[in-house]
Amino acid sequence: MPTPRTWPFIATKEHRRFVEFAETVKRDRTIGICYGAAGIGKTLSASRYARWDKAEPLLRTWGPREDSDNNVYAALARSRTVFYTPTVSPTLREIRDDLRKLHSRVNICIDQHLHVGFHHKPIIDHVELWVIDESERLSATAVEHLRDQFDRGDHGLLFIGMPGIEKTFSRYPQLYSRVGFAHHYRPLSGEELTFVLARHWHKLGSELNSDDFTDAQAIAAVARITGGNFRLLQRLFAQIHRILRINELHTITADVVETARSTLVVGAT
Ligand SMILES: Nc1ncnc2c1ncn2[C@@H]1O[C@H](COP(=O)(O)OP(=O)(O)OP(=O)(O)O)[C@@H](O)[C@H]1O
Ligand SMILES: [Mg+2]
Repeated sequence: MPTPRTWPFIATKEHRRFVEFAETVKRDRTIGICYGAAGIGKTLSASRYARWDKAEPLLRTWGPREDSDNNVYAALARSRTVFYTPTVSPTLREIRDDLRKLHSRVNICIDQHLHVGFHHKPIIDHVELWVIDESERLSATAVEHLRDQFDRGDHGLLFIGMPGIEKTFSRYPQLYSRVGFAHHYRPLSGEELTFVLARHWHKLGSELNSDDFTDAQAIAAVARITGGNFRLLQRLFAQIHRILRINELHTITADVVETARSTLVVGAT
């Protein structure tokens, strides 16, 4: 079974809602706040949106170019986004320097795509959005710095964080008065959760049939334990896989799910 980190991305409804939200913040060059519980997919959605999965290695190393880097330029020219994750307790200087560097590198990449063959310093700023992940790590001064950069630049600003950041940010009146939208990122639910579970079931070699009583009970148990949280789902399924293997079982029952749960430290979500 692939490890959770290599499991393929699923374009969920929440991901599409996030994309629409980010597009609006970008188009209106406003400030947006996206908040949601730990492990439901905020970071993955945002980095997909920014095409960071493709661009990050090049932006980080900034070494000699290869032909394949043209794909990165094209991807960044579509997203026009800088995606930034501050370290734990970052200094203001670190944030300022990191963002300046990333902004300039993304801008150069976009320019390379738009003016193939010319290697001049971009005169136009092509970056339209900054996405800041793990925003609860930002101090009041850092938030103020980002607000100042927002005023001076021509990009939208999107903060991502845990529930509560929208309230924390309301304590910064200058920033808060510029916030155009707040977006609640929600866990999987209903049919979509069943769809994702069916894929997990399939990976473990069995087919899910929600009309089958045993399956229906097992689905209910997984839904109750994980609350539709991606990270918990992946951890729970890793344990289910282990338990099936050890006991030479082939069917995922509610009992198997419960046993898997008991081996996990499932935090409140
Ligand atoms: N749409 C998706 N398809 C497949 N896997 C996903 C999806 N969304 C999230 N995951 C997986 O769930 C796990 C948690 O996702 P992610 O790190 O994006 O959550 P988060 O909301 O940013 O959490 P935190 O608040 O802790 O930063 C990751 O392992 C990720 O691979
Ligand atoms: Mg995250």
